[in-house]
Amino acid sequence: MNFHILTLFPEMVMQGLNTSIIGRASRAGLLAINAINIRDYSENKHHNVDDYPYGGGAGMLMQAQPVYDAWKSVVETMEKTPRCVYVTPQGSTFTQKMAKELALEQDLILLCGHYEGIDERVLEEIVTDYVSIGDYVLTGGELPAMVITDAVSRMVPGVLGNQESGRAESFEGNLLEYPQYSRPEDWRGKKVPEVLLSGHHKNIEIWRRRQAVLRTRERRPDLLEKAKLSSQEQEWLKGMK
Ligand code: ADE
Repeated sequence: MNFHILTLFPEMVMQGLNTSIIGRASRAGLLAINAINIRDYSENKHHNVDDYPYGGGAGMLMQAQPVYDAWKSVVETMEKTPRCVYVTPQGSTFTQKMAKELALEQDLILLCGHYEGIDERVLEEIVTDYVSIGDYVLTGGELPAMVITDAVSRMVPGVLGNQESGRAESFEGNLLEYPQYSRPEDWRGKKVPEVLLSGHHKNIEIWRRRQAVLRTRERRPDLLEKAKLSSQEQEWLKGMK
C-alpha cells in the first residue's frame, strides 16, 4: 500500500514512520510512505504558502494553489485518483473499522493542515474524506496523519508478523483485550492467574473471554452496548452493576 502525505513538515512525518514495525514493513516493500512538501509547490518567490483570511479574523490560512499543485503532482502519475483524507477536528472520528476499510486501498493521500486551516475551495476540489483523531485540537495535521498511517498500515496483510496478527485485539467484536502476563510467575507478591499456568486451553479461552467482557464493562461501557454477547456472557455481567 502507498501513502502520500501532503505536509509542510515532511521530516517530522518520515522520522516517525521510519521506526519500528512500520519502518520494517516499508523496508520490506509492503508499504511505501512518501511525504510531499507542500512548500515545494509555492509559486511565491519567498516560498510562502499562507495568507490572511478574507473577512478578517485571527491567524493565517494555507492557500489553495500550493496544496492543489502538491496533490496534482501525486495524482497525475496514477490511472485512478486515490481517496484524499483531510485530517481535521471537523472530520468523522477515526475508528478501527475505518482503519480496516482504508487498508483495502492501493493508494491513499493524507492532507495535513497548518495555521488556521486551508482555503475551502481546494478542499472542495480534492478531499474525499474528512477525518478527526478525536475531540481535541492539535497544532497541525502531521500527528493525526501519522496516527492514521500507523493504524491503517498494521491492517495491511504481512505488516504484522503471523503471531501479532493472529491474536485477538482490542475492538474486535467491540470488546477490549483481556489482560496478559509474562515471567516471573510471582512479581512483588502479585501472582499470575492460576488458569494461565494450567495448560488447559479451553479454560484459558473462557477466562480470557470473561476478562475481556468484564474489562470492557468497566472501562468502555459504551462499546459493550454494541458487542454481541452469548447468554453465558451476559450472566457474567450480572451482579457487577
Ligand atoms: N488537526 C488538528 N487537530 C486535529 C484532530 N484532533 N484530528 C485530526 N486533525 C487535526
